Amino acid sequence: MFIGYPIWYGHMAAPMQSFLHAHAGKLSGKKIALFATSGSSGISTSVDEVRGLCPDAILTETLHLTSATMSQYGNRVADWLALLGVGNSQDNEDGNQQGQNSLKINITIGERVITATMEDNVTARDFLSRLPLEVTLNDYAGAEKIFYPNPALATDGAPRGNASSRGDIDLYVPWGNIAFFYGGDGGYSNSMIHLGRIDGDGVEALDVSGNISMRIERQ
Ligand SMILES: Cc1cc2nc3c(=O)[nH]c(=O)nc-3n(C[C@H](O)[C@H](O)[C@H](O)COP(=O)(O)O)c2cc1C
Repeated sequence: MFIGYPIWYGHMAAPMQSFLHAHAGKLSGKKIALFATSGSSGISTSVDEVRGLCPDAILTETLHLTSATMSQYGNRVADWLALLGVGNSQDNEDGNQQGQNSLKINITIGERVITATMEDNVTARDFLSRLPLEVTLNDYAGAEKIFYPNPALATDGAPRGNASSRGDIDLYVPWGNIAFFYGGDGGYSNSMIHLGRIDGDGVEALDVSGNISMRIERQ
């Protein structure tokens, strides 16, 4: 479901809050894509409000449009729909965006579902073949969430080296761990194989202290 609303006084417009309050039961378990417009205020307060009003709804990537981003509306809406996997009918009909050929994954952390786009290389393909996976990731240096695929991922023939930046999903070859970069950028390393990248602002879901559990599945 798509739910759109304007931001008033920094919050979700009051009539929409009333609407969600009245229908929270029906929204339980539903995947909801929120989009909002405002002059300049951010969307995060209203997303928290929706989490409070509809605790059992599953919130996906949001879209926030402001006067300042008016000129990019066309691309941003299309990009957002692509992120959500709501492609055009052609994509759905020929199946190129779905199933075994898709390089898109969903990552569920608590109630939030974020997405990532994987690389088309040997290591990323091996990782995709292991999905779905439920994993707990340890925090590493306040910058990465890591886990160790078992058995180790295939690396022969995969391109080596990446300047890992926030949002990147990489394999650190010497240790065999997958790292989700959520803190600062990691700098260039020859020991990295780039596996993919978290879409949009989804990396925020990893920006918490300590371990996190996630479910990873193909779209
Ligand atoms: C009562 C009211 C309160 C508003 N409060 C905010 C606000 O706190 N922050 C903001 O960026 N925009 C605010 N706006 C602007 C609305 O978000 C904006 O009108 C809405 O997104 C729709 O855009 P439009 O008026 O250009 O159609 C407010 C608008 C109204 C009517």
